[in-house]
Amino acid sequence: MTTHQSTEITEQLHTVADYVRFAASEFNRADLFFGHGHDNAWDEAITLMMFLLELPDQLTEHVMQCRLTNDEKTQALDIISRRITEQIPAAYITHQAYFAELPFYVDERVLVPRSPIGEWIQKRFSPIISDEKHVKRILDLCTGSGCIAIACASYFPEAEVDAVDLSIDALNVAQINIENHGLTEQVIPIQSDVFSGIVGQKYDLIVSNPPYVDQEDIDSLPAEFTHEPEMGLGCGSDGLDIVRQILAESAEHLNEDGILICEVGNSQIHVEALYPEVDFQWLTFERGGHGVFMLTQEQLVQFQAVFNYALKNRE
Ligand SMILES: C[S@@+](CC[C@H](N)C(=O)[O-])C[C@H]1O[C@@H](n2cnc3c(N)ncnc32)[C@H](O)[C@@H]1O
Repeated sequence: MTTHQSTEITEQLHTVADYVRFAASEFNRADLFFGHGHDNAWDEAITLMMFLLELPDQLTEHVMQCRLTNDEKTQALDIISRRITEQIPAAYITHQAYFAELPFYVDERVLVPRSPIGEWIQKRFSPIISDEKHVKRILDLCTGSGCIAIACASYFPEAEVDAVDLSIDALNVAQINIENHGLTEQVIPIQSDVFSGIVGQKYDLIVSNPPYVDQEDIDSLPAEFTHEPEMGLGCGSDGLDIVRQILAESAEHLNEDGILICEVGNSQIHVEALYPEVDFQWLTFERGGHGVFMLTQEQLVQFQAVFNYALKNRE
């Protein structure tokens, strides 16, 4: 955008509503991808404008009619232009994302939190986990920003939570979030290649959103995903390199009535093809989402040989 164009726009647009509307129209014209917290241009425009103006996301009609200063107008155009030219997810501009209704600091060292598992954490996995069950130890495998670990700690305040990731960069972000949420006593970040750093540890609940995107999907991801760490997305041709390991090794890290919850997204078809004999329970979601299964420790033991075979004979 030239200085002349910017001046013309700032002379015509004055209110918050003007800039939200202008941003949303520009985002739609640029055919951006939305999938990192919002699924449409309007909500993304509101988030960016409220971030710029340091106002809460809950937009009232009164706020919509407030006028921007000249400085704010220039900054608004800068942010709108950055979202379009860099195709950067809004959360990496605002450094904030919400998960299970909790705020998280994010930057390009971690994926933007968006797992549908958040909905199940908020209802304490009921009825999969009965209200009477005492969940004392939880593992968040592949924690990234720490969002699943921290949400679990918040909704299961009686539980200790280990937050595991191979990436030190990700663990540094998780540490920021653990501190921001005042959970340093309850959530422990651990560097680990899947289970290698937690040998001998057992849990009542393992929750994992591991990398699982297959090569076909990786090759067609919109530009916004290139801002996210590569090791958080792809995982071999069928996306299941780490999932195979999780399935083969979870039984020994779960207590007898323990439960594994694991997200595999679009790679659900590969999971079903690879393990036709296993009766995965696929979770349903009120707020949208798919590709998350549940297995009990008993099932993991029952199909141990199947899981071992698939791990050893991976292509
Ligand atoms: C899909 S992201 C999920 C992050 C977070 N749980 C969420 O829901 O937003 C997967 C995470 O797995 C981590 N990861 C990749 N390979 C790993 C491995 N071998 N062992 C442990 N973590 C790994 C990545 O660093 C990344 O943070």
